[in-house]
Amino acid sequence: MMKMFHTLAFCCLCCCRLVGVFGVGANETQSLAVIEGDSVTLYTDVTKIHADDDILWKFGFDNFLIAKISIQKKIFYTCDGINERFRDRLKLNNQTGSLTITNITSGHAGNYQLQISGAKRLSKTFSVSVYGE
Ligand SMILES: *[C@@H]1O[C@H](CO)[C@@H](O)[C@H](O)[C@H]1NC(C)=O
Ligand SMILES: *[C@@H]1O[C@H](CO)[C@@H](O)[C@H](O)[C@H]1NC(C)=O
Ligand SMILES: *[C@@H]1O[C@H](CO)[C@@H](O)[C@H](O)[C@H]1NC(C)=O
Repeated sequence: MMKMFHTLAFCCLCCCRLVGVFGVGANETQSLAVIEGDSVTLYTDVTKIHADDDILWKFGFDNFLIAKISIQKKIFYTCDGINERFRDRLKLNNQTGSLTITNITSGHAGNYQLQISGAKRLSKTFSVSVYGE
Protein backbone atom coordinates (compact mmCIF):
# COMPACT_ATOMS: atom_id res chain seq x y z
CA MET A 1 0.00 0.00 0.00
CA MET A 2 1.11 3.55 -0.73
CA LYS A 3 0.20 4.44 2.81
CA MET A 4 3.47 2.97 4.04
CA PHE A 5 5.48 5.53 2.14
CA HIS A 6 3.82 8.46 3.85
CA THR A 7 4.09 7.08 7.34
CA LEU A 8 7.63 8.00 8.17
CA ALA A 9 7.94 11.19 6.21
CA PHE A 10 9.86 12.92 8.95
CA CYS A 11 12.59 15.45 8.90
CA CYS A 12 15.03 16.65 11.45
CA LEU A 13 14.39 20.32 12.09
CA CYS A 14 17.24 21.09 14.32
CA CYS A 15 20.28 18.88 14.43
CA CYS A 16 22.28 20.57 17.08
CA ARG A 17 24.06 17.46 18.25
CA LEU A 18 27.13 17.81 20.35
CA VAL A 19 29.87 15.86 18.69
CA GLY A 20 32.57 14.14 20.64
CA VAL A 21 31.17 14.64 24.11
CA PHE A 22 30.85 11.35 25.91
CA GLY A 23 27.48 10.39 27.26
CA VAL A 24 25.92 13.79 26.67
CA GLY A 25 22.92 14.02 24.40
CA ALA A 26 22.04 17.41 23.02
CA ASN A 27 18.49 18.64 23.07
CA GLU A 28 16.87 18.51 19.72
CA THR A 29 13.48 18.63 18.11
CA GLN A 30 12.38 16.15 15.52
CA SER A 31 9.23 16.68 13.48
CA LEU A 32 7.14 13.78 12.30
CA ALA A 33 4.11 13.77 10.03
CA VAL A 34 1.72 10.85 10.49
CA ILE A 35 -1.43 9.85 8.63
CA GLU A 36 -4.49 9.38 10.80
CA GLY A 37 -4.95 5.72 11.75
CA ASP A 38 -1.28 4.88 11.29
CA SER A 39 1.31 4.15 13.96
CA VAL A 40 4.39 6.12 14.76
CA THR A 41 7.42 5.17 16.82
CA LEU A 42 9.40 7.79 18.68
CA TYR A 43 12.93 6.45 18.92
CA THR A 44 15.15 7.10 21.88
CA ASP A 45 18.28 6.12 19.90
CA VAL A 46 19.31 4.09 22.93
CA THR A 47 20.36 0.55 22.05
CA LYS A 48 19.95 -0.76 25.56
CA ILE A 49 18.61 0.90 28.67
CA HIS A 50 21.16 1.07 31.46
CA ALA A 51 20.23 -0.10 34.93
CA ASP A 52 20.47 3.39 36.41
CA ASP A 53 18.55 5.15 33.65
CA ASP A 54 15.11 6.63 34.09
CA ILE A 55 13.14 7.27 30.94
CA LEU A 56 10.16 9.60 30.93
CA TRP A 57 7.78 10.42 28.09
CA LYS A 58 5.63 13.52 28.46
CA PHE A 59 2.94 14.88 26.21
CA GLY A 60 1.45 18.25 25.45
CA PHE A 61 1.72 21.76 26.83
CA ASP A 62 1.28 20.60 30.39
CA ASN A 63 3.92 17.87 30.00
CA PHE A 64 1.56 15.15 31.14
CA LEU A 65 3.51 11.99 32.02
CA ILE A 66 2.39 9.21 29.69
CA ALA A 67 5.14 6.62 30.09
CA LYS A 68 7.94 5.83 32.46
CA ILE A 69 10.72 3.30 32.76
CA SER A 70 12.90 2.94 35.80
CA ILE A 71 14.96 -0.22 35.72
CA GLN A 72 16.21 0.05 39.29
CA LYS A 73 12.75 0.66 40.74
CA LYS A 74 11.28 -1.93 38.37
CA ILE A 75 8.84 0.65 37.06
CA PHE A 76 7.61 0.08 33.58
CA TYR A 77 4.32 1.67 32.69
CA THR A 78 2.28 3.62 30.22
CA CYS A 79 -0.55 5.91 31.17
CA ASP A 80 -3.88 6.45 29.45
CA GLY A 81 -3.49 10.21 29.75
CA ILE A 82 -6.12 12.90 30.02
CA ASN A 83 -9.55 11.67 28.83
CA GLU A 84 -7.94 8.26 28.27
CA ARG A 85 -6.73 9.52 24.95
CA PHE A 86 -3.82 7.08 24.95
CA ARG A 87 -5.79 4.09 26.15
CA ASP A 88 -4.56 0.90 24.40
CA ARG A 89 -2.50 2.99 22.01
CA LEU A 90 0.92 3.14 23.63
CA LYS A 91 3.63 0.52 23.31
CA LEU A 92 6.88 0.89 25.15
CA ASN A 93 9.93 -1.00 23.98
CA ASN A 94 11.46 -2.35 27.14
CA GLN A 95 14.95 -2.63 25.61
CA THR A 96 15.27 0.83 24.08
CA GLY A 97 12.50 2.82 25.75
CA SER A 98 11.14 3.81 22.35
CA LEU A 99 7.45 4.72 22.38
CA THR A 100 4.96 3.64 19.71
CA ILE A 101 1.59 5.33 19.34
CA THR A 102 -0.83 3.16 17.38
CA ASN A 103 -3.98 4.20 15.51
CA ILE A 104 -3.11 7.85 15.83
CA THR A 105 -5.79 10.57 15.70
CA SER A 106 -5.64 14.37 15.61
CA GLY A 107 -5.98 14.28 19.39
CA HIS A 108 -2.48 12.82 19.54
CA ALA A 109 -0.81 15.61 17.61
CA GLY A 110 1.56 17.74 19.63
CA ASN A 111 4.87 17.61 21.37
CA TYR A 112 6.22 14.49 22.99
CA GLN A 113 9.13 15.07 25.27
CA LEU A 114 11.65 12.38 26.03
CA GLN A 115 13.76 12.74 29.14
CA ILE A 116 16.48 10.30 29.99
CA SER A 117 18.34 10.70 33.24
CA GLY A 118 21.06 8.53 34.64
CA ALA A 119 24.54 7.92 33.27
CA LYS A 120 23.34 9.47 30.05
CA ARG A 121 21.32 12.67 30.21
CA LEU A 122 19.21 13.54 27.28
CA SER A 123 16.16 15.54 26.48
CA LYS A 124 14.51 15.42 23.10
CA THR A 125 11.23 16.69 21.70
CA PHE A 126 9.21 15.04 18.98
CA SER A 127 6.74 17.33 17.27
CA VAL A 128 4.02 15.10 15.80
CA SER A 129 1.55 16.32 13.17
CA VAL A 130 -1.41 14.18 12.15
CA TYR A 131 -3.00 14.38 8.74
CA GLY A 132 -6.30 12.97 7.55
CA GLU A 133 -6.26 10.49 4.67
C1 LIG B 1 19.10 20.82 27.35
O1 LIG B 1 17.96 21.21 28.08
C2 LIG B 1 18.17 21.32 29.47
C3 LIG B 1 16.87 21.67 30.15
O2 LIG B 1 15.77 21.41 29.35
C4 LIG B 1 19.21 22.42 29.71
O3 LIG B 1 19.47 22.51 31.09
C5 LIG B 1 20.49 22.07 28.96
O4 LIG B 1 21.41 23.11 29.10
C6 LIG B 1 20.21 21.83 27.49
N1 LIG B 1 21.42 21.34 26.83
C7 LIG B 1 21.81 21.78 25.64
C8 LIG B 1 23.05 21.17 25.11
O5 LIG B 1 21.18 22.62 25.01
C1 LIG C 1 10.43 -7.16 27.63
O1 LIG C 1 9.45 -7.53 26.69
C2 LIG C 1 9.56 -8.86 26.29
C3 LIG C 1 8.56 -9.09 25.17
O2 LIG C 1 7.43 -8.30 25.30
C4 LIG C 1 9.33 -9.77 27.48
O3 LIG C 1 9.44 -11.10 27.09
C5 LIG C 1 10.37 -9.44 28.54
O4 LIG C 1 10.12 -10.21 29.68
C6 LIG C 1 10.34 -7.99 28.89
N1 LIG C 1 11.44 -7.68 29.79
C7 LIG C 1 11.28 -6.90 30.85
C8 LIG C 1 12.52 -6.64 31.64
O5 LIG C 1 10.20 -6.42 31.16
C1 LIG D 1 -8.82 3.53 15.82
O1 LIG D 1 -9.42 4.60 16.51
C2 LIG D 1 -10.76 4.85 16.14
C3 LIG D 1 -11.27 6.04 16.91
O2 LIG D 1 -10.30 6.94 17.23
C4 LIG D 1 -11.60 3.62 16.42
O3 LIG D 1 -12.92 3.86 15.97
C5 LIG D 1 -11.02 2.42 15.69
O4 LIG D 1 -11.74 1.26 16.06
C6 LIG D 1 -9.57 2.25 16.06
N1 LIG D 1 -8.99 1.16 15.25
C7 LIG D 1 -8.25 0.22 15.79
C8 LIG D 1 -7.71 -0.80 14.83
O5 LIG D 1 -8.02 0.16 16.99
